[in-house]
Amino acid sequence: MSKEKLLEVKNLKQHFKTGRKSVVKAIDGITFDIYKGETFGLVGESGCGKSTTGRTIIRLYDATDGNVKFNGEDVHGKKSASDLKKFNQKMQMIFQDPYASLNPRMTVMDIIAEGLDVHGLTKSADERKRRVEGLLERVGLNKEHANRYPHEFSGGQRQRIGIARALAVDPEFIIADEPISALDVSIQAQVVNLLKELQKEQGLTYLFIAHDLSMVKYISDRIGVMYFGKLVELADSDELYKNPVHPYTKSLLSAIPLPDPDYERNRQRVAYDPSQHDTSEEPELREISPDHWVLCTTKEFEAYKQEHNDN
Ligand SMILES: Nc1ncnc2c1ncn2[C@@H]1O[C@H](COP(=O)(O)OP(=O)(O)O)[C@@H](O)[C@H]1O
Ligand SMILES: [Mg+2]
Repeated sequence: MSKEKLLEVKNLKQHFKTGRKSVVKAIDGITFDIYKGETFGLVGESGCGKSTTGRTIIRLYDATDGNVKFNGEDVHGKKSASDLKKFNQKMQMIFQDPYASLNPRMTVMDIIAEGLDVHGLTKSADERKRRVEGLLERVGLNKEHANRYPHEFSGGQRQRIGIARALAVDPEFIIADEPISALDVSIQAQVVNLLKELQKEQGLTYLFIAHDLSMVKYISDRIGVMYFGKLVELADSDELYKNPVHPYTKSLLSAIPLPDPDYERNRQRVAYDPSQHDTSEEPELREISPDHWVLCTTKEFEAYKQEHNDN
């Protein structure tokens, strides 16, 4: 993994107007970078703003504030049609629900080839067919599947089709928004392994979104923990698992079941109580050890540091 930045998210905000006077602050000022070739895991419970983060990065929404840079270039702001097209090719998304995200009236061939068509990446029908067949094989399906429709496939197979669709345009960066949450546990590891293999083969960079910490550890180099539109902790994944600092991260970690009966018998779910925070000032992301950041006040930082050093 390099230390070269592919994506830079700075003070990003997404506030949705939901009524004349009501606003949902789905993302409320988050800052993080993603390095070339790494997997950055974004974790937090349902409704904390993960999908909105992914969708804002990929420009499905305009940002309320802040900015996103991709390869050093501003993603938001004015862009020419050809710049936008180029950008759309470099960044792709895989969705949570492999049932809803594939058009039931299109063949697998047409679903996967859509991006090839939009970007004019094939010169003939024959080349288009060969490209799609190659992609199907690359994701563990076979070329005979090309003429079938999505309903003929299982959840795991559909997610493979979604992955093939994302790969078709040869992207650099893929946002995978809970790509395994809707799948049977037995299938989840297969899809994660496929994503990892593809990453190795093609040098892809991932933003991998999940609502719990169980699978993310295996795929992520670094992890950001989100709570109510804010990033509360950010660290290398080993460090985050070994030395979690923010009480919300600790609570998420305590929820992971392990296949060890002794551990399970004694496992204590730690509840997170946000009212326990120091409110003497606005919390900020502070670096508690190299590349390990936690959202806290000055006073909390002193206490967290003490605890972190004791570990
Ligand atoms: N288009 C939208 N309009 C209004 N509110 C939205 C919209 N999209 C998401 N939200 C709200 O923003 C918050 C974060 O949603 P989301 O990003 O989907 O969370 P997550 O993916 O972590 O479950 C939620 O309160 C959700 O209801
Ligand atoms: Mg979501």
